[in-house]
Amino acid sequence: MKEKILIVDFGSQYTQLIARRVRELNIFSEITPFDKIPDIISNFKGIILSGSPASVDDPNCPIIDSKLFNFNIPILAICYSAQLISKNDNGSITRSKIREFGRANLSYIKKSSLLFKGFKINSQVWMSHGDTINKISDKYEILASTKNVKIAAFKSKNSSVYGIQFHPEVYHTIDGKKIFNNFLIDICKFKQLWTPKSFIHEKIKEIKSLVKNDKVILGLSGGVDSTVSAVLLNKAIGKKLYCIFIDNGLLRKNEFKDVLENFKKLGLNVIGLDSKNKFYSKLKGVSDPEKKRKIIGNLFIKIFENEAKKIKNVKWLAQGTIYPDVIESISVNGGPSSTIKSHHNVGGLPKKMNLKILEPIKLLFKDEVRNIGKSLNIPSEFINRHPFPGPGLAIRIIGEINKKNINLLQKVDSIFIKMLKSHGFYEKIWQAGSILLPIKTVGVMGDERTYENVVALRAVSSVDGMTADWYKFPNEFLSKLSNEIINKVRGVNRVVYDISSKPPSTIEWE
Ligand code: XMP
Repeated sequence: MKEKILIVDFGSQYTQLIARRVRELNIFSEITPFDKIPDIISNFKGIILSGSPASVDDPNCPIIDSKLFNFNIPILAICYSAQLISKNDNGSITRSKIREFGRANLSYIKKSSLLFKGFKINSQVWMSHGDTINKISDKYEILASTKNVKIAAFKSKNSSVYGIQFHPEVYHTIDGKKIFNNFLIDICKFKQLWTPKSFIHEKIKEIKSLVKNDKVILGLSGGVDSTVSAVLLNKAIGKKLYCIFIDNGLLRKNEFKDVLENFKKLGLNVIGLDSKNKFYSKLKGVSDPEKKRKIIGNLFIKIFENEAKKIKNVKWLAQGTIYPDVIESISVNGGPSSTIKSHHNVGGLPKKMNLKILEPIKLLFKDEVRNIGKSLNIPSEFINRHPFPGPGLAIRIIGEINKKNINLLQKVDSIFIKMLKSHGFYEKIWQAGSILLPIKTVGVMGDERTYENVVALRAVSSVDGMTADWYKFPNEFLSKLSNEIINKVRGVNRVVYDISSKPPSTIEWE
């Protein structure tokens, strides 16, 4: 990437949001934790320092690597890091008398400031701080104030180091985008070259020069990340790419057949493996969610390895890793989700196979992956597909799985997804699925008592799966859905809808 900005993470919950705002302006960004600043930073055209939950008075608070100031690269420091800069330069920070959380308005803006170009007095900004900069060294000038906070923004008089107390990255800072626009384009002089087309062009060049005449294998899951990775690699190296798509018998109804056909239509060199029985026999008698996940994960690896061995001279393993996975594993706070559930997907395949790893989309967010996919002309059935967990229906059947309950859940799920599509909800929802509960309830059908299964439906809106809210369907739709499922799927006499958000609940039930 010729033009890029470095985002330094001090543990803020908003760091990813900063990266998104930057990329919305067609500028490429890389996030790094505050204590892992790359050796070479002169190739960045700008630096943004994030906020932090820490207080600058805490003896163990994260610190700013002084290297960042050595190259005269423009710096935008947000909240905590702005406080830190001013403290390091003889400023004074105190606990705020009036803590500002939420809306505030800029009562003073220095008109000639490039950072605030286009801002109007009283513009709404979003504050979230317990400490306040009380005094700042005269090396700096004040650019903006609110009623309660005199030093809401400042600039170094001799360099392009800016500090702001509010959060321009959040939606509630009405002109937040202007701050990024002014900083990145007017101050850092970015040319906004980062587009899906430029990414594809550069990636293909990079893959070709890395892989040369070697062979590459890739585990396909049917999801957007592995599909986009495969199509990108296919463009670069053609038949030297071998894709493996495993049917674990835990996919959605007809998914294996349909997806395999579509992969072939995309021109991919794909091997489809029916491994249903292997998975069913290993999962027999297992009802513990973590055990199920481990068994499925290990079996995937074993089958994949066996198949890979049959292809001679493979040197590379390609994976559909995306940026949130990378950030989670390197972030200041570490990755919480891996300790909540042992996530597994076919993208997370063996690292111990003595193969070199190729991760062509590892610096992209999901929506960017989708844009790249569109630019690669991948059909929308692939691009807009809801995420689906690697362990599949095994973690949506609570308790032990068997062919009968998989079959039943596939029928329910298929009705649910079809109705979401036919009523125009599918694309509005981030993820949806059905869960088979391990209880039976009494019902009445045609004057007869029934004693049958309960299924739960889950549909959530989310941006990245880290947090999610349950989707508010109109009541008429829910009632149609429940009628359709109970009438059409034998063995179900009750449908419930999950109204829990994440946190505290997770998206999957197991
Ligand atoms: P949770 O249940 O942790 O899920 O809120 C967040 C997102 O991750 C997906 N998920 C998985 N994906 N392998 C995967 O590939 C897994 O083991 C796994 N577990 C959960 C889940 O479907 C949701 O999109």
